[in-house]
Amino acid sequence: MAESDADLSALGAGFQAHFGALRAGVVARAPGRVNLIGEHVDYNDLPVLPMALGQRTSIVAQPRDDRRVRCASAKSRFGPREFELSAEIARSPQGDWCNYVKAAAQALVREFGLERGADLFVSSDLPSSAGLSSSSALVVAAGLALAAVNGVALEPLDFAERMARAERYVGVESGGMDQAICLLGRDGHALKLDFAPLRAEALPCPGDWRFVVAHSLVEADKSGAAREAYNQRRAECAAALELLLASGELQGEPRSYRGLLEVHGAEKLAWIAERVLAGELLARARHQLSEFARVQQARKCLVCADAEGFGEALDESHASLRDDYSVSCPELDALVELARASGALGARLTGAGFGGCIVAFARETSLERLLAGLGRHYASRASALEFEPVLVARPSRGAWVEPFELR
Ligand code: GLA
Repeated sequence: MAESDADLSALGAGFQAHFGALRAGVVARAPGRVNLIGEHVDYNDLPVLPMALGQRTSIVAQPRDDRRVRCASAKSRFGPREFELSAEIARSPQGDWCNYVKAAAQALVREFGLERGADLFVSSDLPSSAGLSSSSALVVAAGLALAAVNGVALEPLDFAERMARAERYVGVESGGMDQAICLLGRDGHALKLDFAPLRAEALPCPGDWRFVVAHSLVEADKSGAAREAYNQRRAECAAALELLLASGELQGEPRSYRGLLEVHGAEKLAWIAERVLAGELLARARHQLSEFARVQQARKCLVCADAEGFGEALDESHASLRDDYSVSCPELDALVELARASGALGARLTGAGFGGCIVAFARETSLERLLAGLGRHYASRASALEFEPVLVARPSRGAWVEPFELR
């Protein structure tokens, strides 16, 4: 896809302002994503259904003759950084943007012995801390850029799995959804992703389906407080699984959620979970099992263009994330309610939660009403956001890298 000349010349000018002449380089592009359904289940290798966005992170990279990596961003709050390529790259303080570049760099040095550093200029129209995966877009773009200047080329599936492992460098025990949709996204399609090993099924979005992303105005800072809560959910799932396996009800069976679901199905497992577990661990396991069933349901609805059924699955997913998984907040709940009252067929928080965005689903014919309803919500709230709080998501292609050429 040809990018506009204006976009390329802005990237070129940004690079030169920080690093001087740009002789020969590459540009890597990596989109954000909105997850339609299948939330907080990828780390248990259960399927998810996201789409890549048109909003993306771009990196112009010029190779260097040494192992130094210099990073600059178009956004002034992300100050310049430098580090040396090595198999043990020291982390910047928690939350620092450069950790995402270091994550990709360290993994590629370990796996391919990269020798050549680069000057990197980063620009993005993706809001950060919004649950739209700006962090994975940065990891993937940096990974593609560094690999390209070192002559390393990888298949997208393979690259996605490597970048998912790489990102854990920042201390979040995340699953593989974000890097996968970022690399595998397809114009006009949502993807059903399965894990271990990664597989993708491209599902065309019906022409009159619209997905609207709206920000709760609460920052979901996954490198800060939300990080602990996220890792805790993962640990709770593991603890619930241990109890299920130790209960004697499932002896000799597979030892993972996915394995158990494949053998028993969601309904029977939920019944067993109700007998064996209690309190928070029961609630966490219930979300895993019910969300698995909803992803299957939503996939069917997408394939046969059943908009009402799809919307229902989104609504139920939100209720489960709010009540069983405790990752919502009053602002997200209010926005979900407002979207429904404004003509959405379904709405839910998207991404890790604890703030960030909702995704609302509507038919084209209700889009104007939905946007007007959401618009009134923001009109009465002073916001310091540096981006539009509402966007209509366009299912877009995944990441790529190409020579940087000013036309
Ligand atoms: C974050 C993680 C993903 C996934 C989502 C929740 O975006 O990076 O791996 O777990 O949260 O679905």
